[in-house]
Amino acid sequence: MKQPEKAGWLRSVWQWWRRPSRLELGTLLITGFAGGIFFLATFQKTMENSNSEAFCISRHEMNNTVYQEYMTTAHYNNRSGVRATCPDCHVPHEFVPKMVRKIQASKELYGKIMGTIDTPQKFEAHRLTMAQNEWRRMKNNNSQECCNCHNFDYMDYSGQKTVAMEKHTEAIKTGQTCIDCHKVIAHQLPDMHGVKSEF
Ligand code: HEC
Ligand code: HEC
Ligand code: HEC
Repeated sequence: MKQPEKAGWLRSVWQWWRRPSRLELGTLLITGFAGGIFFLATFQKTMENSNSEAFCISRHEMNNTVYQEYMTTAHYNNRSGVRATCPDCHVPHEFVPKMVRKIQASKELYGKIMGTIDTPQKFEAHRLTMAQNEWRRMKNNNSQECCNCHNFDYMDYSGQKTVAMEKHTEAIKTGQTCIDCHKVIAHQLPDMHGVKSEF
């Protein structure tokens, strides 16, 4: 008795479907769905492309400055060969903060187009503000990007320098976050003349 029941069910779906108005609606839905998938795939690809180191340094003011500095640090070159690339530190992993960051970044791109940082002089002039933005952002998200790779819980304190071990133990107690102490780990310090507060 099972078979006919199933066929009956299928037939009634087909009956419903083949009414012209519904056929149109159905086609519309299917095309919409396929279109949506196509959009998401393209969107994802664009996100991936603009989330690569190559994209970050395709802008010459980045290539000539922060990139050169970063290449001399442990996050570019170290004994284990594990690297942290620009997006690892500057683009949050989760989708929503990522989108917010992209929108903010597009303002920076806009700044470039408008000539805000398109020469080394102008880049230097805006450097402090950009650094402060990153410090504030990392302070507010508890240095989330750093913690995607590092974690107090898994540090081998016996392998660290005494000062590092002491400071980290203290930081866990007082709730300090990486960026409170580890500024300027990938780039040079901007000109801090006359700056009263870091943030
Ligand atoms: C993609 C992973 C990754 C991210 C993200 C990352 N790190 Fe690292 N970090 C590493 C690796 C790998 C090393 C080198 C380990 C070694 O020496 O073998 C390192 C080394 C360090 C060191 C010791 C060397 C030095 O430069 O003095 C500090 C301090 C440090 N990281 C802090 C940070 C902070 C602060 C952040 C966030 C702003 C951060 N890291 C983000 C992977 C990462
Ligand atoms: C209270 C300040 C403070 C905080 C907060 C802090 N550190 Fe450190 N850290 C230090 C000091 C000081 C050193 C030693 C620096 C040196 O020798 O140049 C150090 C050293 C390190 C090193 C190198 C250790 C070694 O001996 O090779 C790593 C890696 C590191 N910190 C990662 C982090 C990460 C990741 C965070 C956030 C989860 C963090 N630190 C938070 C003060 C701090
Ligand atoms: C290990 C983490 C890390 C990596 C990798 C990293 N940055 Fe940064 N970046 C920072 C931090 C932290 C700041 C805030 C200023 C500071 O402390 O140096 C910053 C600041 C900046 C600024 C603001 C101007 C300035 O000099 O402070 C720019 C622009 C920048 N980064 C671009 C890049 C680009 C491009 C790359 C890749 C070539 C890169 N960063 C790789 C952590 C990182």
